[in-house]
Amino acid sequence: MQNYLEETLLICFSFLIVHSVFLGWHKAQLQTKHSHRRQKVLVVANRLPTKPKRDADGNWTFERCSGGLVSCLAGIRAKFDMVWLGWPGADFNDVEKDIVANEAMKQGCYPVFLRQNLIDEYYNGFANNVLWPLFHYIMPPFDKGVNECSTGQWEAYRKANEIFTEAILSVYEDDDYVWIHDYHLMLVPKFLREAKPDCNIGWFLHTPFPSAEIYRTLPWRQEIIESLLHANLLGFHVYDYLRHFLSSCVQLTSLEISAHSVDATSIGGCIVTCATVPIGISPDEFLTGLQKPEVKQQIEQLHEQYAGRKVILGIDRLDYMKGIPHKLMSFGRFLENHPDWADKCVLVQLAVPSRRDVPEYQRLQRQVHELVGQISGKHSSIATGVPVIYMDSSMSPDDLSALYNVADVALITSLRDGMNLVSYEYIACQHGKTVPGVLILSEFAGAAQSLGAGSIRVNPWHLQDTAHAIYEALMMGSEEREALHDYAFKYVSEHTAQKWAETFLQCLQEACSDLMEVTSQVPPLLPYEEFLSDWSESVQRLIIIDLLECLAPARERMNLHSRGRPKFIRLPPGLWQCLKTIASSPGTSVIITSDRDRQTLAAVTEDLPVYLAPEGCCIMRRPGETEEWIHLVEDSDVEGREEWMDGVNAVFNYFAERTPGSYIEKQEYMYRWSWDNAQFDFGSAQAREVLIHLWAGPLVNSEAEVVVGDRAITVRPHACSRGACLEKLLSNELNGLQQVDFALCFAVVSHRDEDVFETVEVLRPAFFEESMASDFGYASAGDGDATASLATGLMSLCSSPRSSADGRAGSSVLQTPTGPAPEVQPGEEPPPYDWVPTAQREREEQQRQEKA
Ligand code: UDP
Ligand code: G6P
Repeated sequence: MQNYLEETLLICFSFLIVHSVFLGWHKAQLQTKHSHRRQKVLVVANRLPTKPKRDADGNWTFERCSGGLVSCLAGIRAKFDMVWLGWPGADFNDVEKDIVANEAMKQGCYPVFLRQNLIDEYYNGFANNVLWPLFHYIMPPFDKGVNECSTGQWEAYRKANEIFTEAILSVYEDDDYVWIHDYHLMLVPKFLREAKPDCNIGWFLHTPFPSAEIYRTLPWRQEIIESLLHANLLGFHVYDYLRHFLSSCVQLTSLEISAHSVDATSIGGCIVTCATVPIGISPDEFLTGLQKPEVKQQIEQLHEQYAGRKVILGIDRLDYMKGIPHKLMSFGRFLENHPDWADKCVLVQLAVPSRRDVPEYQRLQRQVHELVGQISGKHSSIATGVPVIYMDSSMSPDDLSALYNVADVALITSLRDGMNLVSYEYIACQHGKTVPGVLILSEFAGAAQSLGAGSIRVNPWHLQDTAHAIYEALMMGSEEREALHDYAFKYVSEHTAQKWAETFLQCLQEACSDLMEVTSQVPPLLPYEEFLSDWSESVQRLIIIDLLECLAPARERMNLHSRGRPKFIRLPPGLWQCLKTIASSPGTSVIITSDRDRQTLAAVTEDLPVYLAPEGCCIMRRPGETEEWIHLVEDSDVEGREEWMDGVNAVFNYFAERTPGSYIEKQEYMYRWSWDNAQFDFGSAQAREVLIHLWAGPLVNSEAEVVVGDRAITVRPHACSRGACLEKLLSNELNGLQQVDFALCFAVVSHRDEDVFETVEVLRPAFFEESMASDFGYASAGDGDATASLATGLMSLCSSPRSSADGRAGSSVLQTPTGPAPEVQPGEEPPPYDWVPTAQREREEQQRQEKA
């Protein structure tokens, strides 16, 4: 019988602690990592910076790819010991793969080969036809079959992310930093964390992160956001993107979220730091480039070519987010407004081919060609030629620098743009000119937040506004041009690509070491062997367990499945039986406390032989009873409560009506307004208002107390505190604990814990051993027995790592096992495992070391 009971106890408590065990193990691994790191960074991006090509004669060339990501990372290669993993841009046969891999490795790159069908589905499909538009605020069209098609693409996306993870693992060495880039690889953090739990993972998004309202439409939003939360650091260009990401986390998860971090430990992720780290360029490269004789010559030629005309420059990938049609139409509008400028200016537009296999890009190209034709047809003349010079091609960096330098105006009309490096490059190449050029910059580009004050900002949708900005830029006096340029150049020269990379990596290092600091205070594990021996030696045992968070999850906001308070709280399968065995063992009293109402607690516990103390412990029911609820509050103690309860009810009603997702719970002694399912920011703001109204209204001079909880405000009489009621229960039913020689308390919310522990402490002060006292105190297995700190251990196991991070768990003699964690997900039933021997081994090892 004893063995069976011990087993049952182990299983029962493992339900409560399995997640903490998992975390404890994971973090213990992090603590043992080398303190001196080599600055080796594995950069993982969808694309390699070079694109291999074979000409008709079979000769290979390796061209530099275009795009912001390649440009800025190319600028930092010299500084870091870096291996770049990415797709080489095409499907290759086995012989070609060897050639490509050899050449790539010479350039510090590691190619990740993908088959053509995967490229179609993952790159052209999910990444560029689902995520790219959505992240730029374009909702997917809802044609027949679109969802089925995207589902196949999603599978390919997963597959490609797995392939990238395998590639990382094949070059990964302990202590490397893995820096994942962009929307193509958002599932890698989770895959990698699962394979290497102690890996340092950073992820940077080069596009905008859309508002939560847009992001939430993505059918795979949950998988993606949860995967990202397995990284140590998530970086964004600007604060708005970070804010949108956090807001999505608030709406889609039930995790603890602060202004710059998300505690995702409960889903096996990290305490994730979220940071704004704006990207930059390497201005020196452009400035030195401009000094090259061939570039100078090119500049001269361009001046000659466009003599007498002002050059307005557009450089964009041919992407619908760059707003090229808007730009052309605004330029057309400008020429209509100012026909005299038709022979005095020229728009040079370079449209770098991009994602040509995606139909949307093919449509865009046709549209742009049409518009160029229309404008040229309308405003060309034999004398002056065409007003638009349009090129469907890319350019060498030298040619690009020359063009940036001669342009009098740069026109950026992105409809959305993560940052837009072209605007930075233009500013860099204008430096040193007697009369610098003017930047016209869309307010929807991330760059508008940094260079806005050094440019003319426009709304590209307002064609007339942009047309006027072109005129303003062309007419601007030299003084104003210089002032704008100086401002922008200062920013560009100070916020370089190198600084961006250094800042990101520094943040990553800090995020990883912060995690280690947090982990040094991770709550200790329950020492089962001591616990079991104390249990078996005791005669009268008391166990107090709170219902929510200890026996059943408090709420399930994840996936937004449950709107409103879950009607059916359920104990995890098997736990009910374990509780029954424990509660039925001789000399054992189990009290289940809860804030929920009596009907709910009675329904959840069914006929368990336990004391029930629902409604904040204001009432109780004895084991075996089915009807009789005993009041633990004297009428005389709560006299006059009607006076304030009506007022509180009115305030709560007023706000419940105006706060969708909030609701009121009324119990005999207290009212609670909960906003579990309200939008977080709105709910918090409304909660502040509720408090102001309560303090200024019904609670003035009242005998009521307000308890502000997690997304809930409770008002109750002073006499109804949980501690006071529990004290009464223990005194009446368990003779003030006089015979009890074993006590355990489980509770989650700290003020409640304190109430509970204080109560036990007040009734049996001799339980507490001065020598091992922590902030909360602990109950041991008996006076004078110095072996266990059960209450502290158990309580800590139920509390979140965040709350333990504030140091409240205090010093402890308990250890975290270092052996491999059992394969178990939080909330799942754990397989049989050997924590007892592991913990024991640890302690023996420690004792050996102490002796030595
Ligand atoms: N670029 C290039 N070749 C070209 C034209 C442009 O490599 O022919 C580079 C340009 O120098 C810039 C990048 O492509 O660094 C474009 O970055 P941006 O952030 O402006 O936009 P993205 O293409 O990343 O959306
Ligand atoms: C944007 C993306 C990059 C991408 C670049 C070029 O800047 O954020 O990740 O590399 O566009 O796009 P492509 O599809 O050609 O790699």
